[in-house]
Amino acid sequence: MLRKSPFKNRKILIGITGGIAAYKIPQLVRILKKEGAEVQIVLSESAKNFVTPQTLSVLSEKPALSDFFKSNQGDWNNHVHLGLWADLILIAPAGANTLAKMTHGICDNLLMSVILSARCPIFVAPAMDLDMWIHPSTQTNIQTLVDRGVHLIDPEEGSLASGLEGKGRMAEPENIAQFLSAHLAPKPNYFLGKRVLVSAGGTQEAIDPVRYIGNHSSGKMGFAIAEQLIELGADVELVYGAVTIAPPANCHSYQTLSAKAMKAKCDEIFPTCDVLIMAAAVADYHAVDVASEKIKKSDDALTLTLAKNPDILKSLSETKKEHQVLIGFALETEKEEFHALEKLQKKNLDCIVLNSLKNPNAGFAVDTNEVTLYCKDGEQFHIPTQQKDQVAAALLNKLGEWLTKTTT
Ligand code: C5P
Repeated sequence: MLRKSPFKNRKILIGITGGIAAYKIPQLVRILKKEGAEVQIVLSESAKNFVTPQTLSVLSEKPALSDFFKSNQGDWNNHVHLGLWADLILIAPAGANTLAKMTHGICDNLLMSVILSARCPIFVAPAMDLDMWIHPSTQTNIQTLVDRGVHLIDPEEGSLASGLEGKGRMAEPENIAQFLSAHLAPKPNYFLGKRVLVSAGGTQEAIDPVRYIGNHSSGKMGFAIAEQLIELGADVELVYGAVTIAPPANCHSYQTLSAKAMKAKCDEIFPTCDVLIMAAAVADYHAVDVASEKIKKSDDALTLTLAKNPDILKSLSETKKEHQVLIGFALETEKEEFHALEKLQKKNLDCIVLNSLKNPNAGFAVDTNEVTLYCKDGEQFHIPTQQKDQVAAALLNKLGEWLTKTTT
């Protein structure tokens, strides 16, 4: 059977910036076109000193663009459409100047505005002289971009256009194609067909018929995880407490307001599940005596006696069968990593996800989050601030890769 190329029908936008390595891009365009990709070239003004738009237009079978306006026709090259059209954007060669502009969001040409409008994965193949490459500003910019999720195609070592020898040559077109191909090739999907129990939201512990002890959890992160799991083909059981949004469709969902009710539902469902993702903010205590009538404000002070709630996650981990995987969440206000790792071990978990409460764009009330995934073998993955659905996708991607590697 003929191999289906991962490039077949994929829309790849190549941004070319000024640098001698630009002369290799026509070769890359030929490789990608041969593999069935649609290629759109956007080049900076200075790139035209090294490679002609005509060559690129002929090879890509599309006009190579560099201006916002098509001067002879009066219409414009819509950068937002170009950014959204692409399945993948590659900047090659990416010079030091372009990397700096990307880091700071400087938008002074068509290519930069396309990059800022893009929602697809972005790859950079840097090319520059060795001292420029190792300069702290370049390295800091690269690190910032990588932290934001940009994929780095490392430059290669060898002779440079300056006559010097060292690291800084753009990766060869064949190697760039291979790197992109590995990204586009379908990945093994750990969660396909798996039965996954997800908990979400906060619990409410009643004091009397109208009042309760609760927390700020909105349920958004747990619901985003459930939604992504449904997309990945998992059979999702969702148990949730108090939330501010509706649960996703296409899964079985149950609302359980108290920790006790949540435990009962989780105890019922967990034995038939492959994975548990416990994202709920379960209250640690409940009122010992729940008043049957509304408590009147008679005295100046009111004393409530609280008793500890059962730890749902810990008690489920004690019944865990060999094939079952348990993932917990941690939310700490001090010594975050230390406490998260302590919980990983004490609750006998496979992984724990630490929320970054110190980041104002992460946590309860907001739609964005930043988390770190700690695995029991010491591996860890940081997921930078993004929308909660993107964090959920990145988290499950890393988790799926780790589980595939460690459980097969
Ligand atoms: O111990 P701590 O509450 O910080 O641990 C957080 C993790 O434990 C979360 O995954 C949470 O859902 C779970 N948990 C639980 N039952 C409790 C308290 C927390 O399952 N009573």
